[in-house]
Amino acid sequence: MTLNFKTIRDSGNLRRKRVFLAIDLNVPIQDRKVVDNYRITRSKKTLDFLAENGAHTLLVSHRTNEAESLAPVYGKLKELYPIVFAKTLEEARIALEKAKNGSFVLLENIRQLNGEQENEEAFAKKIASLADVYVNEAFSSSHRAYASIVGVPKFLPHYAGFLFEEEVQNLSKAFSPAHPFLFILGGAKFETKLPLIEKFLSVADEVWVMGALANDIFKARGEPVGSSRVSTTDFPNALLHNPKLRVPSDVVRSGDRIVDAGEKTVADIRASARAAKLIVWNGPLGEYERGFTAGTEGVARALAESGAETIVGGGDTLAAIARLGILEKFSFVSTGGGAMLEFLANETLPGLEVLRW
Ligand code: 3PG
Repeated sequence: MTLNFKTIRDSGNLRRKRVFLAIDLNVPIQDRKVVDNYRITRSKKTLDFLAENGAHTLLVSHRTNEAESLAPVYGKLKELYPIVFAKTLEEARIALEKAKNGSFVLLENIRQLNGEQENEEAFAKKIASLADVYVNEAFSSSHRAYASIVGVPKFLPHYAGFLFEEEVQNLSKAFSPAHPFLFILGGAKFETKLPLIEKFLSVADEVWVMGALANDIFKARGEPVGSSRVSTTDFPNALLHNPKLRVPSDVVRSGDRIVDAGEKTVADIRASARAAKLIVWNGPLGEYERGFTAGTEGVARALAESGAETIVGGGDTLAAIARLGILEKFSFVSTGGGAMLEFLANETLPGLEVLRW
């Protein structure tokens, strides 16, 4: 895919320049401590580049929960970089003026500020005035048309960070794939995932629909699903008989509830994976958060050993792979959950559209 956006490499001399870096620091926190800094590690190349090039960088990020603070992330980042924490825009402005070349200012959770989620133009202009250059490193938030993602770049020269670029380059492989190509989609929320199933039934050789999404297909086929998690809308009949569509051939039940895919299903996926050239996977096979992890972990191992190019993403999927200690066995690990799915469905994101020159 030709990238029609410029990257941070094209941003010229950054010495003493104030850089607005949209970055995803929405990392797991427990007892006010960062317990998983994977996302921070993935942005290291961009952070190092800005530090080495003498920029004064404003880090702008969010917590999903508006009420939560980014202070624990500041605690983590200050082990790595010269950085100060700014609770307000005014504090950020002053800190950026005083900043030494190559240092950072972390702004408090941007979702606490009015105008961010509404992408109010006056707000976007105001936060843009804190900087000279805009860089989007937050691919995993770029499905949100918020001010820090789509508003600010309208007012500043704008570039993609290294992780953002890597995400677009790697996920785009699913649009003109090497074959055989397996697309594996799990989790729930069939309503939001239907466009993906439709799209990949035409692009991939096999589309494995797993997790709660499969229950919708069982239900549509008239098979008993008991009190299993199902969606509110029905699975379209027209897709039911598509020969590329695969669902678990055996399932694990807890009472009358389907909670995971069974061993035969994992073996079927392993066999397909061995023959595949490209595999894209997002979403657990079972009720992962309730401890039904065997199907998800079995598929993680099967993919890691497949020899195919493997692209994976999604919170629970990555948690399973990380728990097995096999993250590095995958060709590309997307930091995006919702953003990965939306990019795969639409081949773009609101935050990518505004980076075009
Ligand atoms: C994520 O964790 O996937 C991103 O940070 C987006 O978070 P959000 O769902 O709170 O927008």
